[in-house]
Amino acid sequence: MQKCIIYGGAGFIGSYIAEVLLKNNISVTIFDKKNCSKKNINHIFDNITFVEGDFNNKIDIYESSQGHDYVVHLVSSTLPADSNLNPSYDIESNLLSSLNLFDCCVKHKIKKIIFISSGGTVYGNSVKIPIKETHPTNPLTSYGIIKLTIEKYLGLYNHLYGLDYKILRFANPFGPRQNPKLNQGLIAHMLYRIKNRQPLEIWGDGKNIRDYFSVKDAARAVRLAIEDKSPNRIYNIGSGKGLSVNQVILKFRQILNLNFRVKYVPSRKFDVKRNVLDISLARKCLKWKPIENFNIELENTWKYILDNE
Ligand SMILES: NC(=O)c1ccc[n+]([C@@H]2O[C@H](COP(=O)([O-])OP(=O)(O)OC[C@H]3O[C@@H](n4cnc5c(N)ncnc54)[C@H](O)[C@@H]3O)[C@@H](O)[C@H]2O)c1
Repeated sequence: MQKCIIYGGAGFIGSYIAEVLLKNNISVTIFDKKNCSKKNINHIFDNITFVEGDFNNKIDIYESSQGHDYVVHLVSSTLPADSNLNPSYDIESNLLSSLNLFDCCVKHKIKKIIFISSGGTVYGNSVKIPIKETHPTNPLTSYGIIKLTIEKYLGLYNHLYGLDYKILRFANPFGPRQNPKLNQGLIAHMLYRIKNRQPLEIWGDGKNIRDYFSVKDAARAVRLAIEDKSPNRIYNIGSGKGLSVNQVILKFRQILNLNFRVKYVPSRKFDVKRNVLDISLARKCLKWKPIENFNIELENTWKYILDNE
């Protein structure tokens, strides 16, 4: 049986990746922080191996990565919204620790590493929509710069040591289990505010466009990337369609029948205006496409927030 370790696997996206891999008969180890919440993985806990540790601790990474065929790297200590406050911390906690992980992958002869990058931040303001993988990359956040730098180091480690890798640049995955208290994941965050009868705060005029897609579709792409034998290294993964913030909140009213107040506040410097990914490369070469219905996933997310958060 093939073995995969998922760093950051107890989180939102990792829990879905673990489910998909288990269904495909891949043995799963989840590495996450000591005392991290297990609520996302309780339902599969008996079927996985859980390793607690710190991604910033070299010994933890050396020991945990040994004996696996595949590595999925999902740990990030920063979010787009807070990363510009302390770029040095971003470098220390995300970049240096990722390089240590790659060193361990080389030492342990890992067959392939899948890195979850960010299609929403690495490109910066788009010159052309939808955005292809070859679009210029001019991130407006340290988060985006670090994701891109990690991508480049994967290229270097492949060149120097033959480390095989795939990079998935996710747009905006959403669905149940996303932490709605964070400043990432607009849909979950806004639904949580509605549940708590707080007004929605919209930065700017609400016309900023993003590419939202189901976390289940995101997780499927990881399994396909593990199997992918094509020479491609980087895939955009999203819906390929754009929705403005105003359109999203209209869906809250029309699909979920919700009532709420909206407050427009000044825009933030790091928010790009339009981000819609061109997913044709993943469609063609990964044989992946988004299949989950947006409205149904929206209802599932709302139900989850009502029951759990
Ligand atoms: N959620 C999104 O909208 C989105 C979009 C694009 C890319 N991504 C990327 O996907 C990855 C996963 O995102 P998510 O939404 O599932 O995040 P999440 O916060 O739900 O999960 C991340 C997990 O990493 C763990 N972690 C953090 N620091 C750690 C450390 N030092 N040691 C061990 N574990 C640690 C956390 O405990 C958590 O369980 C991140 O790299 C993120 O940048 C997320």
